[in-house]
Amino acid sequence: MKRGHIKEIDRWGMIEKLMRFPEMCEEALSFRVEPPKQKISRVVLAGMGGSGIAGDLIRDWLDPSIPMETCKGYLLPNWVDGETLVVATSYSGNTEETLSCFSDAMRRDAALIGITSGGKLEEECNKFGKPLIKIPPGLPPRVALPYLFFSTVVIMKECGIVSRRDEEIRESIKTLRELREKMDPEIENNRAVVVAKKIKDTIPFIYAPPPLYGAAKRFKTQLNENSKIQAKVEFFPELCHNEIVGLGAAPKNVSFVFFRDVEESEKMKVRIEFTRKLVGEKKAIELRGEGKGRLSRILSLVYFGDFVSFYLAILRGVDPTPVEEISELKTELTRLPQS
Ligand code: PA5
Repeated sequence: MKRGHIKEIDRWGMIEKLMRFPEMCEEALSFRVEPPKQKISRVVLAGMGGSGIAGDLIRDWLDPSIPMETCKGYLLPNWVDGETLVVATSYSGNTEETLSCFSDAMRRDAALIGITSGGKLEEECNKFGKPLIKIPPGLPPRVALPYLFFSTVVIMKECGIVSRRDEEIRESIKTLRELREKMDPEIENNRAVVVAKKIKDTIPFIYAPPPLYGAAKRFKTQLNENSKIQAKVEFFPELCHNEIVGLGAAPKNVSFVFFRDVEESEKMKVRIEFTRKLVGEKKAIELRGEGKGRLSRILSLVYFGDFVSFYLAILRGVDPTPVEEISELKTELTRLPQS
């Protein structure tokens, strides 16, 4: 794919930002935050869309020893209390669900930390003296994922929830750099372009086993926002209890993307192979993360999926950056009386 052609469609320059993904990860690892003084027994990671996905990925990676939930709505779970750490993440700082969770956490005396590039969330953190990680502004929220993800990692480290994982983190960034080399648009048989061509003009159904739930969800949402197509995501083993019924008769314009991982148990392998047979080999694409550690495998799949969604946008002739429907709805909501 020629750079000149990409430039004509990618008017807001998403490709340059995508290419900086590994450096953004490293930059974020140098961020610092004051840990809360209270004892932490539970964690809620609150955030929506491109900001919220960081929480899903963290949970998949850590398999944490204390309860850790993501919250994608206006209210925190009922059990949030003074021993709960609530991380409120909103790239813009103006997402009303996340701001509502911030207020909810305040009411319950939870330990509260914000991650944002500015907006009301920054104002609220400053007003109430809550710790904040401020990340660089000016990006589409979903492109800021490396900042959002590793800011959360920094918080988890400061709070003692993540320890002795530095080698795994270093490996993941090395893997991302190596992957980037292979993602250059002008490289012949660029695998992301090959996958984008395969799913073009189809509705991709994405199926993933643990610990790839967040990575698969990210792929789906990047296809929505960057490529402007519909896609769906389902998870093993749950999909074996519903989705597989009638799957052989799925419409012709559906493609299937199977996320695979070295951590699959023997039974999980059987489930995945069984499902693959149902959809027919022709329609199935298999994606695996790179590297040894779980973090490397998760983040390399995320990064690869980001490139697929980007190249699919270019193949479809749509600018990957604007997300008009999301912006319009947010504007409409701000017209309502604010409570
Ligand atoms: O990618 C996007 O633009 C959205 O999914 C946003 O991330 C989502 O609407 C939430 O906004 P923010 O990330 O600013 O809190």
